[in-house]
Amino acid sequence: MLPLKEKDKPIVQKLLSAGCCARCVLRFCCVSVQAAYRQAQHVGLHPILLSSQTVEDPPCKRAKLDPTEAVQSETDDAAMVTLKKEESSVCALCLGILQDLCGPDQAIKIVETVKAQNYEFDTLVLSVSLPAQLCVREHSCWLHVKKEVRQKGLVLDKDDVIQVKEAFKWIMQGLVTKQLEGVAVVSKSPFEVGVEFTHPDTESDCHFLFCTSLMLCLMPLHLRCFSFLLQSVFTRMAVVKALEKISDVKFLEHYPCPPSEPSGSCTPQDIQCLHISVFIAGRYNKFCRNLPQTPWVIDGERRMESSVEELIAAPILSAFRADGFNFSSSGREDVDVRTLGNGRPFAMELLNPHRSRFSKVEMKQLQEMINKSSDKIRVRDLQIVTREAMSRMKEGEEEKTKSYTALVWTQKSIENEDISFINDIKDLTLDQKTPLRVLHRRALAIRQRVIHSMNVRFVDSHHFYLGLKTQAGTYIKEFVHGDFGRTKPNLCLLLKTDTDILELDVESVDVDWPPPIPE
Ligand SMILES: *[C@@H]1O[C@H](CO)[C@@H](O)[C@H](O)[C@H]1NC(C)=O
Ligand SMILES: *[C@@H]1O[C@H](CO)[C@@H](O)[C@H](O)[C@H]1NC(C)=O
Ligand SMILES: [Zn+2]
Repeated sequence: MLPLKEKDKPIVQKLLSAGCCARCVLRFCCVSVQAAYRQAQHVGLHPILLSSQTVEDPPCKRAKLDPTEAVQSETDDAAMVTLKKEESSVCALCLGILQDLCGPDQAIKIVETVKAQNYEFDTLVLSVSLPAQLCVREHSCWLHVKKEVRQKGLVLDKDDVIQVKEAFKWIMQGLVTKQLEGVAVVSKSPFEVGVEFTHPDTESDCHFLFCTSLMLCLMPLHLRCFSFLLQSVFTRMAVVKALEKISDVKFLEHYPCPPSEPSGSCTPQDIQCLHISVFIAGRYNKFCRNLPQTPWVIDGERRMESSVEELIAAPILSAFRADGFNFSSSGREDVDVRTLGNGRPFAMELLNPHRSRFSKVEMKQLQEMINKSSDKIRVRDLQIVTREAMSRMKEGEEEKTKSYTALVWTQKSIENEDISFINDIKDLTLDQKTPLRVLHRRALAIRQRVIHSMNVRFVDSHHFYLGLKTQAGTYIKEFVHGDFGRTKPNLCLLLKTDTDILELDVESVDVDWPPPIPE
């Protein structure tokens, strides 16, 4: 038995004669008993509501409130007969969405699409995208019954009307759950299945709104109107806003009330599945001097066949079956610089992963797979992290320290005094003008950076390894060769001879994130 009351009768009759389906009648009577919507299409509306007989509150013999239970039991033959006519025509209000586009067949179609895409999930959220003109039709219908409501002194507010979207979900959630066996359709889930409907025939329903808002526009706002015009697609938000502003009189001047009968139902669009991003972090080593960190493209042409991020990402993408990724790291090294020691922290956003849960053992296997895939890089501490945790990597990056080893050449031969002079320098502040080699992509500026300490490891009279502990962001190459005096002081000035850098390695990036994973 449907929870409609005698007092709803005038509205029910008005809606039915305006060409609304049984479920839209329930919506406009603000019925929030979910089971009623599942029943509605089979039982139709109780015949009593269509006759002029009076009812007491009916006994609730069929109203089932359990949302997972699809109601298909004993059908009321009498009601079926009464509603034959209404069910054969397309509802002027929901454009068929709550009629033939909402039932077991659609549930099967959704489930087949989801299964074919091979996602791993144990809950899903159903999202519905409706044509914007439904709002216009809803408004028209509301004005249609409002007259009636006011005359009979009934209390009914537009906000109490159950939305098409809501009713659709109430009906479909249970059906989809049933088809998916064990997967709950819930209101919040990392996995979203999107159902979209369009109705090209009635798209022009919205046009008058846009004309009137043009007229309402005052001069200073004309640009806003223009952007509305240029949009040319009537987003749901734009339509809702316009409807809030337009007066009833103006609306009725431009739009039929009740809305006209449509020639056909909505067209269901492709079902879209989307899993929220998964975030992965770790540290990488780079062992070669001809690998850029990110793909190196100049004038649309690729200069190096690979990159650190691609080598790391390829095995991860295929394990998570993700559509794409977004790579970031704590600083970066030049193409000819190695990253040794514990490596450089990095994080990756994996877009639309079809698989999202990995055990510690599986993460270790994935790490091993990356390690084995190339001699050029290695990865450690690979782990799944939260989006929030990722920001830890960038936090206070400027204050962190980094250690390097540079192979230095000197023109004059190196004396013992030179070595102890360099070894004794502590917290040397440099003024670094933006290096010539990066000037094409960075603004010209003078930045101060600190070299906390240095140590010299003698190789021969013209070569030594210089160990440096510096503030993050120090340009090491420029400190060694001086960059034509753009970095001051520099090693040439300190040693009073020409010096050059032959090799550079990053020894450590002192960022304490991500946390180490015990072996
Ligand atoms: C990648 O990350 C950046 C910065 O966090 C963000 O602005 C961008 O939208 C992301 N790209 C994708 C495809 O998610
Ligand atoms: C991968 O290589 C890194 C760096 O050498 C090492 O620390 C880590 O244990 C390796 N992991 C696996 C699973 O092979
Ligand atoms: Zn309807």
